[in-house]
Amino acid sequence: MIDSWLDDIKKCRSLQKLDDIRVGILGKSGELTNMFATMKTVPNEEKKQFAMKLNEHKSSVTKALENKKSQLVATQTKKKLKASAIDVSRYVQPTTVGAIHPITKTMNRIIDYFTALNYEVIDGPLVEDDFHNFAALNLPVYHPARDMQDTFYFNDSKLLRTHTSPTQIRTMLSQKPPIRMIAPGKVFRRDFDITHTPMFSQVEGLVVQHGQDISFANLKHTIQEFVVDMFGDVKVRFRPSFFPFTEPSAEVDISCIFCQQKGCQVCSQTGWLEVLGCGVVDQNVFKEVGLENCSGFAFGLGVERFAMLLHQIPDLRSLFQTDVRLLRQFR
Ligand code: DAH
Repeated sequence: MIDSWLDDIKKCRSLQKLDDIRVGILGKSGELTNMFATMKTVPNEEKKQFAMKLNEHKSSVTKALENKKSQLVATQTKKKLKASAIDVSRYVQPTTVGAIHPITKTMNRIIDYFTALNYEVIDGPLVEDDFHNFAALNLPVYHPARDMQDTFYFNDSKLLRTHTSPTQIRTMLSQKPPIRMIAPGKVFRRDFDITHTPMFSQVEGLVVQHGQDISFANLKHTIQEFVVDMFGDVKVRFRPSFFPFTEPSAEVDISCIFCQQKGCQVCSQTGWLEVLGCGVVDQNVFKEVGLENCSGFAFGLGVERFAMLLHQIPDLRSLFQTDVRLLRQFR
């Protein structure tokens, strides 16, 4: 009897079953309890022996039940903990954090600078027509300056804009002066080498006002302040140049930020780096858009060139090769 009880207890795998076993042995009509009840039928001289035996069984069954119970509780707790715990050793797919492209970053810096001065940001179409891209900018069909800006043409005389300057025309046709605007955006040309890509970005600027008060002095001050904000403590030089839509025109150079004018490869030993084109708006342009008695200045800059100078990027094309090793450096 006792052996089969102990065996049942030993083999038991659940607390519920263990309790059933307990009731079956020690319960009100359990097997051992019943055996105690047979005590009265046992002859007197064997009673003592019989009682001792039963009590012995009772205590070993009780002990076995207790042991088994704590064992089962322990495994159950272990199981529960295992199920709810966070497995810190589990492999988790790493998330990649994106970064803002250096061109966008540079563009945003330029936009922030001018919007703080109350310039409006204006968007223009990438597919332009001859009038806005060339003719209205004082670049008639025969003008040789058109050669420098060959582009991609569509059948119906539409073309991919070669610069952001057509946005000047669109703005002057749709708004009355005073105008203070910048036009950031993509432009296209038939070019491809270490410093040219068929698509690149520019920021155009235009200030127009009634009367003849806006002069080259206003332009010079505006550009000087802007360039120093972008490149730090640099010398700024205005070099006479030609653009059909401005008169006078200038190209702006900064003292080389790589060699401090000692002469290096980036500045071709000249000590100067060209950063943008600008000028006083040509009266012919005002005529094209029907504005009378107005004055103004304009400027245009290449964003990739700014980014390359600011971040010392040697090859312009690397900006468009989507190589994450380059982009990761701008996180
Ligand atoms: N549109 C010219 C270019 O792409 C840059 C430029 C020069 C814009 C002088 C201007 C300007 O507004 O005044 O080469």
